[in-house]
Amino acid sequence: MKKQLANRVIQTDCLDGCRYLDDESIDLIYLDPPFCSQKEHRSFTRDRQLMYAYSDTWNSLEDYSKYMKDRIMEFHRILHSNGSLFYHCDRRTSHIARNLLDSVFGEKNFRSEIIWYYKRWSNTRQGLLPAHQTIYWYTKTGAYHFFPMYENYSASTNVDQLLQRRIRDSYGKSVYERDKNGQTISLSNKKGVPLSDVWDIPILNPKAKERIGYPSQKPILLLDRIIRMVSESGDWVLDPFCGSGTTLVSAKLNGRNYLGFDISPDAVKLSKQRLAAPQRTDSQLMISGRDSYNQIEQEIITLFQGCNIIPIQRNRGIDAIVKGHFCTGPLTVRVQRSCETLAEAAQALYIASISKQSEKMILVQTHANHELFKSNIPAEIEIVESIAFQIEKLKEKLTKDAASAV
Ligand SMILES: C[S@@+](CC[C@H](N)C(=O)[O-])C[C@H]1O[C@@H](n2cnc3c(N)ncnc32)[C@H](O)[C@@H]1O
Repeated sequence: MKKQLANRVIQTDCLDGCRYLDDESIDLIYLDPPFCSQKEHRSFTRDRQLMYAYSDTWNSLEDYSKYMKDRIMEFHRILHSNGSLFYHCDRRTSHIARNLLDSVFGEKNFRSEIIWYYKRWSNTRQGLLPAHQTIYWYTKTGAYHFFPMYENYSASTNVDQLLQRRIRDSYGKSVYERDKNGQTISLSNKKGVPLSDVWDIPILNPKAKERIGYPSQKPILLLDRIIRMVSESGDWVLDPFCGSGTTLVSAKLNGRNYLGFDISPDAVKLSKQRLAAPQRTDSQLMISGRDSYNQIEQEIITLFQGCNIIPIQRNRGIDAIVKGHFCTGPLTVRVQRSCETLAEAAQALYIASISKQSEKMILVQTHANHELFKSNIPAEIEIVESIAFQIEKLKEKLTKDAASAV
């Protein structure tokens, strides 16, 4: 590979760009090309000072298909024999992409259909809310680099499953391995569940640090996963449709060589700016797992059984909103956590609610206040005690009454 191309972003049609690259010189190619959406994609930077755009309109699916095939053939030529290609698409052209990839790479080099799944909250169309995109993983040969990854066990995993070693018995059935005394053999270093082909990675929320306002900007966490799964430090990563440079930023942060092409001068400029000061937004959901959210949600749902509320996910201060219209704005609710004082819970609720134009809030107290001084709770907050807390208090009172009666 020509050294002068290392860590560059070049404005060009990727078909022309690839012609400068030697056969088998790239270890990983990730492409997120136009999806044939028949739209001009536009979006603004966070301060709304700049608009970025790219065109995704085509005369026909045949045109689109021919355009992509020419490029996929070049990507195949430059891919190393141990290398991988990831093709990002969605429901509009996934059938075309799969066909093209099968014909250029060969069906036997198809590795996985990755479903990138994310939560979305509203749907403007009649029909099902689109909540996933597809990434096809192909390799050049059967001798490809792969570094296994693991996910955390879910909270519902059987404890024996976590701690005990399993083997196949003579019928090929998975059973717990036992020592000569018939005792199961425990295993303290299980790595987790092997990564599946369904990836739950949040889309960039409007306030994410790394969001720069490029249309179809992908999260760095998605690219981190791909890059770490099939490449090593010092490998060459190419994104031929690099847009805002997400792949390049991830490659840089992970110590890979990168090369990006984009036909748009704005995209190239933006990628260079991002590469000069790379930012990654960590996702609490990925650190703690979706189960931890579901667990909180479950507790809240249990607490509010029978109440007309909408549970809120991923908000630091608000757990739910009471359904209905109130002259005081949205009626927000927070449940006091076991590790929080009443004042801390009230502050979290107050800060989060004020920004939502809420003038009245409900805090559900779940345990006694052991603070030295009476908490200073904002007047906007109404405190209600959870049933469990009321029962605890009643128990305490009855125990005290019984003690003073003897
Ligand atoms: C879906 S966007 C990529 C977004 C990118 N993954 C990100 O996270 O920002 C597709 C990009 O392909 C670029 N593009 C379209 N045709 C191209 C071509 N023939 N060669 C290179 N880039 C092209 C567009 O300018 C656009 O930036």
